[in-house]
Amino acid sequence: MHVYDRLERFDDAIGWDEFIMGINLKRRNALRDVHGHVLEVCGGTGRNLPYYRPGQVTQLTLSDASRTMLDAAREKQLHEYPRLKAEFKNWDSQQLPVADNTYDTVVDTFGLCSVPDPVKALREMERVAKPGAPIILLQHGRSRHGWLNTALDKTAEDHAQKWGCWWNREITDIVREAGLHVESCDTSLLDTTYLIRARKPLPAAPCSNRAGSGDTDQRDV
Ligand SMILES: C[S@@+](CC[C@H](N)C(=O)[O-])C[C@H]1O[C@@H](n2cnc3c(N)ncnc32)[C@H](O)[C@@H]1O
Repeated sequence: MHVYDRLERFDDAIGWDEFIMGINLKRRNALRDVHGHVLEVCGGTGRNLPYYRPGQVTQLTLSDASRTMLDAAREKQLHEYPRLKAEFKNWDSQQLPVADNTYDTVVDTFGLCSVPDPVKALREMERVAKPGAPIILLQHGRSRHGWLNTALDKTAEDHAQKWGCWWNREITDIVREAGLHVESCDTSLLDTTYLIRARKPLPAAPCSNRAGSGDTDQRDV
């Protein structure tokens, strides 16, 4: 059984911690500009639902590998955010059953700690984003403080058993390995929390001969 299928009271378990750490404000800030058809992967119980603006987000596709988490998200949307047009998909974010270039924005908050292969998941996120689309990541992982990393490493195994989350992953290495085009990366909470704004590149413009002498070929760069 998937760890997250056991965490039926996920919101109760982490709500207070998130409040104390100001995570709700970080979610709001991360999602302020998301627009159009948004894909959220590893969407869990829909903790980001309050921050999607119905006028700005025309459709939300919230996906997660755990049916239990998805059911909680669906209930929340139905009762608390009925104006938001949303669908819920039981998808593995490492292998999304979606065509290339589908979404206007792709979001993942606190999912890279939990997927077995986070690099693969990021590559999928970029694949399904439209050219030029923002990819918003709010994540937690290793810090640049040695003493804190030692503590994270020591407790990582137990934490993962209980929560399904590896809190000592090297987020910047993962993003670099996936080849994402990062526009900004801000850290907080002793550098354990990362807000990364990336963007899928636009296709390269063809190189043309403006002089028009007729003796050159046109080629993709
Ligand atoms: C720490 S929770 C974060 C939930 C939510 N994004 C949030 O910000 O509260 C991680 C989520 O990742 C999901 N998950 C883990 N592995 C996954 C995978 N391979 N594909 C999709 N979702 C996955 C879990 O079911 C869980 O809901």
